[in-house]
Amino acid sequence: MKNDLLYLRHDVKVEPLFDHWYAWSHLIPPATAARNVTERHLKIMDSYINAPQVHANAVKNPKLLGGPFIDYGGERTDEIRALRDETMRRRPHLIELSRAIASLEDLLRTRAKGFSMRPLYDEIPDILKGYVELSYDLNNNPGYRFIEPLLYKSHYYDTSAQSMMLSAVTGDDRPFVLSTPRLESDSHFHLRRPYDHEVVDKLFSLKSKPQRWGEIRDMLSVSQPVEPLVRSFFTPEPPAPYAPYRGKGVRWRYFGHACILVETANVSLLFDPVLSYTYETGISRYTYLDLPDSIDYVVITHNHQDHVLFETLLQIRHKVKNFIVPTCSGGALQDPSMKLILERIGCRNVIELSDLERVRWENGSITALPFWGEHSDLNIRSKAAHLVRIDNRALLFAADSCNIEPRLYKHLHAEVGDIDALFLGMECDGAPLTWLYGPLLTKSIERAMDESRRLAGSNFEQAFGLLSQFNCKSTFVYAMGQEPWLGYIMSLKYTDESRPIIESNKLIRECQGRGLLAERLFGEKEILLETSN
Ligand SMILES: [Fe+2]
Ligand SMILES: [Fe+2]
Repeated sequence: MKNDLLYLRHDVKVEPLFDHWYAWSHLIPPATAARNVTERHLKIMDSYINAPQVHANAVKNPKLLGGPFIDYGGERTDEIRALRDETMRRRPHLIELSRAIASLEDLLRTRAKGFSMRPLYDEIPDILKGYVELSYDLNNNPGYRFIEPLLYKSHYYDTSAQSMMLSAVTGDDRPFVLSTPRLESDSHFHLRRPYDHEVVDKLFSLKSKPQRWGEIRDMLSVSQPVEPLVRSFFTPEPPAPYAPYRGKGVRWRYFGHACILVETANVSLLFDPVLSYTYETGISRYTYLDLPDSIDYVVITHNHQDHVLFETLLQIRHKVKNFIVPTCSGGALQDPSMKLILERIGCRNVIELSDLERVRWENGSITALPFWGEHSDLNIRSKAAHLVRIDNRALLFAADSCNIEPRLYKHLHAEVGDIDALFLGMECDGAPLTWLYGPLLTKSIERAMDESRRLAGSNFEQAFGLLSQFNCKSTFVYAMGQEPWLGYIMSLKYTDESRPIIESNKLIRECQGRGLLAERLFGEKEILLETSN
């Protein structure tokens, strides 16, 4: 009977978890995961257990949005204590790895003074021996690199930490998830599978390919007490089919933040996928339902949580033929390989692009252009502004690129020519270094240094310099985190007085005054670009 066939509802959210913490890209590589477990998760949980009310008050303070505070209203301390104890019991190897990284860095700070590194190999913490190579730069500054693929083969990479929590989502108002572990609840189904498990693809294929309940229940190992809950995540109602773009030229659609779908009659590209679920709402938007059945390329600009979002990637990976990511610097703690991360979460055909490298197809290409700044001056290479060419059109997805040196764009213009449409983030304040990278530091940084080294994108002057250099006919400010359904990953709430809004308003006025198309994207947008063919 047809009614026996069930689809996964489009208002069921999935939260990927790492030992109950919302999973993001630094929780996959063993070294960054280890540092985040000891320096973020355990510290936040300890702090909550000691002073839950301090956290409850801080969460209510808009100035502290995105800070290291657990959002359980000062309650559930027993569960947080149990989670802390469980983490310490189940992850001793990660705790040990984190300490070993700190010892190694201390060794290099105190003992590597420009003489041969060979004697220091004996003093590398035992568990790191064979996984790190020591070196100096040409100015005798010591450093090291991990042999990342080997670390992933070791017991430091443990997928038993990975799981997913499924629940119904009813509106845009999702609390910030990066500082609060997700505890068990009656409204959530905890699917304990690693991200690369085949069940993940089967589950999300159910959004468009139905199955019988018995098969679904067995596939997800649903126990009897939670059966009514999990059954409620499915419906016999088929989703509206998606009509892929078959017209002439290029069509792009803005899905919110930095997520843009580019389609022509023969290729589809999805940038920095971050999708809204589908539910009744006052703000019109494209959702998962507006994706093609097959996506040729998912393209990632850089390794920040709002651009490489597992929650979306896990749901779409079965439709994606290729993933394009920027190349990393190779084994640096702060710059883990995005290729290895995506492969470990089950993405297939992951292609790395380095500066000016290109992927081509019949009538188009993607070229990785340098993306400078926005990473607190840390040596992080995994970031690229992607130039898409389709026939005679050129679109540049520059994400959070900061135009810190206009000459870069002069050189690039000489290489790639004019651009039709520029997409640029203008979060020109940015969080300080420690907000994101603090757990990786093994020696604390002076506050003034921290404050000066921000995750800041382009301001008016920088953005205007960039678009002028490329003679951009149209400019779209995006990646501003302003869509209300993004609150769970964005710690930004702007007012009209916020600098990113003032600066981007100025840019739009300046462009419009010169007869150029300029707009700050919000919610949804569709544009058709004619091409020569
Ligand atoms: Fe960023
Ligand atoms: Fe961003």
